[in-house]
Amino acid sequence: MDTTGTFWMPPANSTIASEVDALFYFILYASIIIFALVVGLSAYFAIKYKRRDGVEAINSKGLDHNVKLEIFWTVVPLILVMIVFVWGFQTYMKINVVPKDAYEIKVTGQKWFWSFDYPEGGNSVNEIVVPVNKPIKLLMDSKDVVHSFFVPEFRVKMDVLPNRYSITWFEATQVGEYNLFCTEFCGKGHSEMVGKVKVVSEEEFEKWSEDLAFSGEGMTLKDFGAKLYVSKACVTCHKIDGTNSTGPPWNNLFGKEEHLSDGTSVIVDENYIRESILNPMAKITAGYQAVMPTFQGILKDKQIDALIAYIKSLQEDKSLIQDESSQEDESLKNE
Ligand code: CUA
Repeated sequence: MDTTGTFWMPPANSTIASEVDALFYFILYASIIIFALVVGLSAYFAIKYKRRDGVEAINSKGLDHNVKLEIFWTVVPLILVMIVFVWGFQTYMKINVVPKDAYEIKVTGQKWFWSFDYPEGGNSVNEIVVPVNKPIKLLMDSKDVVHSFFVPEFRVKMDVLPNRYSITWFEATQVGEYNLFCTEFCGKGHSEMVGKVKVVSEEEFEKWSEDLAFSGEGMTLKDFGAKLYVSKACVTCHKIDGTNSTGPPWNNLFGKEEHLSDGTSVIVDENYIRESILNPMAKITAGYQAVMPTFQGILKDKQIDALIAYIKSLQEDKSLIQDESSQEDESLKNE
């Protein structure tokens, strides 16, 4: 199994990758050989038959074509092109026909992250976890503009469109972590729309699936929120050290008076945060672009509660938070 990669290609870590590479190298080397022949012979003949004083041009002796040579340089390229066509078509069909026993994951692209929904009900953001040696079907669409799902080491690349599903599949052959890129320019955050494909053993995948369904039991809401802050990729746009990023920082946010782009202002409370998560376009903080995606359907109510508790915990001036203790009690009751 090739895991090292070459000058031309990254490591080949899916069932289809070595086949794609073999065709690529065939075309590459055939092109190099033909290029060298054409350019080399042109140069050689140009020098050998250059015009000299006192030497008559060959063509004047009535030589105008050579049937054998012409058949040769027509038939040989035809054979080469047919090989590339048949080989390419077969590989194309393999890439596009999903095996029947494939495990299906719903992929959603939006500005600017990936989310993945698993058949068992859990979801993950920017990290798709799959079992090794099992065909994985990806059912993909976009919530906004065109994105593209690209995992170089699997040789898998497929556009992700709004209002229409696209489908692709792969079978990873090697446990490990692989880069996932968006390869369709989709706006300001395009270059940050990167994720990971984590390929794990069958047992590890089952354990991970169970964890995914984890609802924060045995954890305080605040700690659960801190976990979600990273796992749901809030961290990409919201910092907690006071620095501005794509979105407002979360520390010292709760209880603050926030000026909005329409000239009004709001006090950041539980309802404002909840609305901002589910319907981000409703109230845009002045000085920021309206780019936050909705987390409707991605976050459950309890997860939103946890994020609110986490944001509250990042407020240094505790006098702005009245009901923190009652919230903590709530989480204990839920257990
Ligand atoms: Cu999404 Cu580029």
